[in-house]
Amino acid sequence: MVAYRTKMVERITLPAREQRERTLAEAGYNVFNVPAAEVYVDLLTDSGTGAMSDEQWAALVRADEAYAGSECFDRLESAVADVMGFEHVIPAHQGRGAENVLYGTLLSAGDVVPNNTHFDTTRAHVANQDADPVDCPVDEAYDFESDAAFGGNLSLDRARTVVDEVGPEQVPVVVQTITNNSAAGQPVSVENTRRVRAFADEIDATFVIDACRFAENAYFVKQREDEFADASIAEIAREQLSYADAVVMSGKKDGLVNAGGFVATDDPDLFERCKQRAILYEGFPTYGGMAGRDVAAMAVGLREAVEEAYVADRVEQVREFGSLLGEAGVPVATGGHAVYLDAGAVLPHLSSDVFPGQALVCELYREGGVRGVELGSFAFPETDRPELVRLAVPRRTYHREHFDHVVETVETVLETRSEVDGLRLASEPSIPELRHFTADLEPV
Ligand code: F0G
Repeated sequence: MVAYRTKMVERITLPAREQRERTLAEAGYNVFNVPAAEVYVDLLTDSGTGAMSDEQWAALVRADEAYAGSECFDRLESAVADVMGFEHVIPAHQGRGAENVLYGTLLSAGDVVPNNTHFDTTRAHVANQDADPVDCPVDEAYDFESDAAFGGNLSLDRARTVVDEVGPEQVPVVVQTITNNSAAGQPVSVENTRRVRAFADEIDATFVIDACRFAENAYFVKQREDEFADASIAEIAREQLSYADAVVMSGKKDGLVNAGGFVATDDPDLFERCKQRAILYEGFPTYGGMAGRDVAAMAVGLREAVEEAYVADRVEQVREFGSLLGEAGVPVATGGHAVYLDAGAVLPHLSSDVFPGQALVCELYREGGVRGVELGSFAFPETDRPELVRLAVPRRTYHREHFDHVVETVETVLETRSEVDGLRLASEPSIPELRHFTADLEPV
């Protein structure tokens, strides 16, 4: 089943090989520094890179830009209430703005925050409050051989160990990230969400869901969790989110927009406190750092995200891409928004201190103008993560031919993989958690 046809197009070109070589060197072997016009298939992120629908563009053109009390904010409020089930919404310019608002409100120095796995901006925002982000993934999270249905789940055992070590009063917040982006975008079951809710009640903590990819997560729940086989995506999404005290959302993912995010909650007290902080960092609470037109487009996007035809098309496209790469001989884990390659297995001659994931990212660009992102020891210094490369799929953007090109590129890289050199840091930015965005590297 195909859910769309094309109404507007954007030209792309593949620069000549010598140009790609030059660009890579000038970019300090960091593809964040590569001009987008020189990328042929851009799988850097699924965040804010998707195509909006004609309905969203129509909403965008008709939106008002009032500083206070805009009508598009009313539409966002009712979309969040209908789709996610929360009464209060505080818009923010994007997900990390919402994280700043929420975690800045909820956390104090010395607190400890268990999360199935912190995404990098989440980790940085928790740390920015002088609190300690602790990952509590299940054992299968990084096992490429595993066929776990819900490898994104939060391990209650690990979370309990954290609480036993520091005491419940040090753990005011528990977070569940759905899907679990940093653990190969694997889904989280509703059953696990219910258990985390009960656990948060036990220790009197606020339960936050990072809902960036809540609709994709709901699609997996429908497929894999028996209780929900006959439920709609919209019903599953509402059920899962209903257990949270608050959600933190990047609209750039399942809000289907290019900019925006929000915090949502039913708790009037938390809402008031977040609102004050939002005014300081984001903007007046009816726009929160977004243009009114983006607020309007997000209100439509949230509703589209839980349409069966949309989400099936979306997640199945990613699944098919993953199986093509698997057939090409690369160990892959496939989530709802991305395919994750095991760079450690592809380049076994490179040790983690010469960044095999980043070396693979560079080869994909050199060979085929394909841009992915490293999520291994370059992006996560000091953590014990596998050497992953993520190929994230923008929503409603690429077609089978683009994915065939990526698969051919990977096949070519595999043929000469033993000759691929490692990389070392040539500069080290001041915030180590965020170094993969700006650091320069050089071949070893
Ligand atoms: N939480 C998760 C799980 C995310 O994946 C992201 C962003 C954020 C929070 C922050 O949202 O970008 O709107 O500020 N992830 C993007 C990615 C950047 O490429 O995975 P943001």
